[in-house]
Amino acid sequence: MTDILTEFSDGVLRVELNRPEKKNALTGAMYARLAEIHDEADKDETVRVVLWHGAGDSFSAGNDIGDFQTNPPKAGDSPQARLTEALINFGKPIVAAVHGSAVGGGTTMLTHCDFVFASENTRFQVPFINLALTPEFGSSFAIPERVGYLRAAELFFLGEPFNAAHAAELGLVTRVLPEPALLPTATAIARKLAAKPAGTLRTHKRLLKRGFVGQVREAVEAEAKEFVERVRSAEAKEAFSAFFEKRAPNFRKLEPAPERKAA
Ligand code: COA
Repeated sequence: MTDILTEFSDGVLRVELNRPEKKNALTGAMYARLAEIHDEADKDETVRVVLWHGAGDSFSAGNDIGDFQTNPPKAGDSPQARLTEALINFGKPIVAAVHGSAVGGGTTMLTHCDFVFASENTRFQVPFINLALTPEFGSSFAIPERVGYLRAAELFFLGEPFNAAHAAELGLVTRVLPEPALLPTATAIARKLAAKPAGTLRTHKRLLKRGFVGQVREAVEAEAKEFVERVRSAEAKEAFSAFFEKRAPNFRKLEPAPERKAA
């Protein structure tokens, strides 16, 4: 699979999302491959740290919307569910270098990282509401936990883009960097982490995340139940068509006609 590239050096497994013509939107096959990569890296003692980044001008535009139309995730096992589980179980540090668009899953999957470096040009967005969908990757727990309820409600209910400086204020990124410094800084931190005692680092991660894991699992289960219904709804169908027709969705037309009172 060329949509996901990996390269290993100095204990760091670099994972590159490589579908730049589609802003690295994630297909089912890409989710499945990412799940496999993380499951294998967790067991492989030579891998100390994973480093994520995106090819082209963006990190990721989230789930491929065409996939939602033709192959919507089902209840139970799905490539998305497999990747979520792989990330929850992943015991080693994940460092992300994010730039350009980081939308939908391109924002929410970052809640499973230990370091998130964002270039100044990053535009984050959790636009599930605009697509008539619901949050995923356990972000309905992780984001309010990180930023507070009112700020999470603003991000999720309005679904508008926000810049890297705001993401840093909210606590969603570790540090904002000029674009040329992004990958070198993330790589340097990943190498620093790779030189730490691996067993103790794993223990640190387990201890720091012990509350998170239980609650995020509960959120993932609740999200999955809602998602499989929402992704098949008339509202979602209208939103997906609107995206590909490059127009604003018209959710009003889906509302039942108001009852007329007899004169
Ligand atoms: N799924 C499928 N295709 C996508 C995509 C996605 N999530 N995001 C981008 N693309 C495609 C576009 O359809 C376009 O394809 P085309 O060249 O065949 O028309 C191509 O990638 C480039 O995207 P474009 O919209 O032209 O780039 P942009 O710089 O104007 O905007 C985004 C970039 C990411 C802001 C915009 O594409 C976008 O909002 N994408 C949807 C993101 C989203 O809602 N993701 C959440 C899914 S849960």
